[in-house]
Amino acid sequence: MPLQSQTWKELSTLLRELSPKRRKFLGFVLVASLFQGIIDILLVGLLSRLVGLLAGAKLDDQIPGIRFFGGGLLDQAGWIVLLLIASFWFASAVRFGVALLEALLTADIWSDLVQKVYNNLLLQNYEFFTQKRTAVLSERFNRILTRVTSTVISPVIAIAGNILSVSALLIGVAIALGGKAISIFLFLLIAYLIASLIITPYLRLFLRQKMRYTRRIRLTFGESLRSIRDIQLYSSHHFFVNRFMRDGTIAKRNDRLANILPNVPKFLIEPAGITVLFAVGLAPALLSGDGDQLRGAMPQLATVLLVLLRISGPLQSMFRSLNRLRGGLPEVKDALELLCMRPGRLALSNPAVPSPDGVMPRRLIELRDVTYSYGLSNSPVLRTIDLSIPVGSRIALVGKTGSGKTTLAHLLLGLYKPESGELLLDGLPVSDEEMPAWQANCAFVPQQIRLLDSSVRENVAFCEDPDQIDDDKVWAALKAAQFADFVADMPYGLFTMCGENGMKLSGGQRQRLSLARAFYRNAKFLVLDEATSALDNKTEHDVMQALELVGRRCTMVVIAHRLSTVKKCDRIYEIADGGIQASGDFKTLSAMSSSFREMAMLDES
Ligand SMILES: Nc1ncnc2c1ncn2[C@@H]1O[C@H](COP(=O)(O)OP(=O)(O)OP(=O)(O)O)[C@@H](O)[C@H]1O
Ligand SMILES: [Mg+2]
Repeated sequence: MPLQSQTWKELSTLLRELSPKRRKFLGFVLVASLFQGIIDILLVGLLSRLVGLLAGAKLDDQIPGIRFFGGGLLDQAGWIVLLLIASFWFASAVRFGVALLEALLTADIWSDLVQKVYNNLLLQNYEFFTQKRTAVLSERFNRILTRVTSTVISPVIAIAGNILSVSALLIGVAIALGGKAISIFLFLLIAYLIASLIITPYLRLFLRQKMRYTRRIRLTFGESLRSIRDIQLYSSHHFFVNRFMRDGTIAKRNDRLANILPNVPKFLIEPAGITVLFAVGLAPALLSGDGDQLRGAMPQLATVLLVLLRISGPLQSMFRSLNRLRGGLPEVKDALELLCMRPGRLALSNPAVPSPDGVMPRRLIELRDVTYSYGLSNSPVLRTIDLSIPVGSRIALVGKTGSGKTTLAHLLLGLYKPESGELLLDGLPVSDEEMPAWQANCAFVPQQIRLLDSSVRENVAFCEDPDQIDDDKVWAALKAAQFADFVADMPYGLFTMCGENGMKLSGGQRQRLSLARAFYRNAKFLVLDEATSALDNKTEHDVMQALELVGRRCTMVVIAHRLSTVKKCDRIYEIADGGIQASGDFKTLSAMSSSFREMAMLDES
């Protein structure tokens, strides 16, 4: 069956990703399949000999391996039946063994691939995730989890195994029986080939449609859950249910059609096989009207029939697999792109990465001449920014919404790579190897807080082994974030669960938990992006007081709309029109910038 070169290319991509150990295992499974074919030759040979014996045909013992049974009819029949029974048991055991090996191999390959993809995905640059929709990423990843095994890995192993075992059997029989048998098998192969060539385009179409509409219903479902508050207020659940049903019906119909289509060749093989078998094998003897010739044709006929029966299963499974593979590859093609991804950044554990203390600057954290835009087609959000932050100081970024404060913070944290310009520590640019070490010195309280669906304790000590968490340190961090009293009053204290993304907490409580997470890290460079915006004035004041203490040992960047939050900062930068409009302490800035004065006035009123 000619596979399209595209299919080959995708397959070889997948095979290249396998470790040498898995490839060796694959080789072993294939040898076992070949062995299975050889055992089948023995079975068929014995059966045909038995049929010949019982039909009273004159045997010329062409089939190797059964020549030594001399003696009378009963003697021979007894021996052959005994051998046959033993061979059937053995062949079944081998078949089961091969199936078991294939299952284990598939599982091993699956874990290898998934681990690789997940690891590489998490090691992408932060920018990668800002450019991709997470729903699309999870859908692709999900397809690697669920579909790659059934549409690619299993079919490939089944095809390779079946080709070997069927070829071994066919070659054995062809040697024994000659051209006639070969022509029957060839005919069958051609019938299969034509049938699958006809169905493949339809199969691809159904699968594509199924994929498109399944994606749409998943998106609808996700969107509706995220908008549940508005759905209730607008009474708009019908809108989502109707959309879901319309797309769902199309998706399922295509799914079922795609499922039944690969079985079509199966409906051809049996009638076609029997027709040809009798036409080629029996018709000449029948037409000649010679009873002996008819009897003489029996062993050969029985052999071919048995071979047909024996190979029809593997042949069917092979063509089903082939169709599934050809139809299914487009389905997982975009998912396989994830497999080819390479890590986009180094991890702290990499030996090339220096220690965090080694890169921590003594004097200055700087952005020099930095320009940044989201995607090359968009105009820059920040242009030729020069920003110097003395180590140990506390600076603030203020400015209108959308002016680029959060973007600037991400550049300082090395989460975004500048389009031009660089991040410098003590005057030296931060290399790719140094970046993880610099980031290990940083903590960030983001504007949009993401919490783990676990306990307060595990949220504060983010991703630390629960057995290793230092509870005293957790309490100290909670205290600085003005959250300790609240946690102490919770029914399970530190072990109280926060709910999905901290759903069980209020906005201000979530912010304080996020602050506690930043404090727990003992970071030397702390960025607070609207980290106290949801707190009441008194609590915010208390948090800022606590920050005075923390602030002594770290450099801090505070982003806030409420100017009271930033009043005490050593230097305030006003961001506007993609650049730094003005800077200075609160007083200087009030004197210098009219827009800042306006902000301050509005804030006070
Ligand atoms: N992931 C993104 N992709 C494309 N554009 C973005 C992305 N994130 C932000 N922007 C754009 O960059 C500009 C600056 O965004 P940024 O979040 O830095 O503003 P901000 O000053 O923090 O605003 P706010 O005060 O509302 O938090 C905005 O105009 C925004 O539309
Ligand atoms: Mg922002």
